[in-house]
Amino acid sequence: MKPILELAEVGKNFATQQGSLAILEAVSCTVNKGEKVAIIGPSGSGKSTLLSLIGLLDEPTKGSISIDGVRTDSLSQTEQAAFRNSQIGFIFQSFELIAPFTVEENIAAPIEISTEKVPEEELMQLIGKLGLSERRNARPQTLSGGEKQRVAIGRALMNKPALILADEPTGSLDRTTGEKVLSMLIDAVDEVGSTLLIITHDESIAGLMDRVFELKDKTLHERT
Ligand SMILES: Nc1ncnc2c1ncn2[C@@H]1O[C@H](COP(=O)(O)OP(=O)(O)OP(=O)(O)O)[C@@H](O)[C@H]1O
Ligand SMILES: [Mg+2]
Repeated sequence: MKPILELAEVGKNFATQQGSLAILEAVSCTVNKGEKVAIIGPSGSGKSTLLSLIGLLDEPTKGSISIDGVRTDSLSQTEQAAFRNSQIGFIFQSFELIAPFTVEENIAAPIEISTEKVPEEELMQLIGKLGLSERRNARPQTLSGGEKQRVAIGRALMNKPALILADEPTGSLDRTTGEKVLSMLIDAVDEVGSTLLIITHDESIAGLMDRVFELKDKTLHERT
């Protein structure tokens, strides 16, 4: 099995009024291609912080992160932005869709950014699979929560990234809608052959993943 993500002794400190505060210490783990991984842990334990380090939205204070064999600290800012757009898909609890864009435009955004031509047929297929064909010209504010999150899933997967990072993707949805959205996410990740890291407070969601890590005492512990 090939590692897609390698964390080696990753630490993160934030500057506060009381001085530098360690949020993460010596986080090490290896995730292989195609695995689905849950990260659980108490509020404030550093789960979102860890995901933003993996997603190249922030930099570790210590240690190293490699994605698909590439040390992320060896990339320039511009290379990091291109790498993030092509290799990483993000899904957030609060959807974070682009308000003036339609459903179709939101999903196609990662392709537009990479200045490639949008593969229209593929785009329509993805929209169909997510059950959004009827809503494809709608703007985010007119969508239900479940629809919004299906758009976010489409956008995260459009570039067939190596890694999908989901921060409590069903946290704003009711149970039934959450289950539907999650099963669409899992199917879509499987189809693309991507790797999923999902933050959740929900043990039943964690139970659907191949591996479960707990974030506590500033570090990751794998449940066995
Ligand atoms: N930019 C920042 N500057 C200072 N402290 C920060 C910053 N970002 C996060 N923190 C602190 O780091 C800790 C971890 O935050 P984080 O958002 O990663 O927690 P979390 O595990 O995702 O929690 P939740 O389950 O509530 O989303 C918190 O105490 C938070 O206040
Ligand atoms: Mg969080």
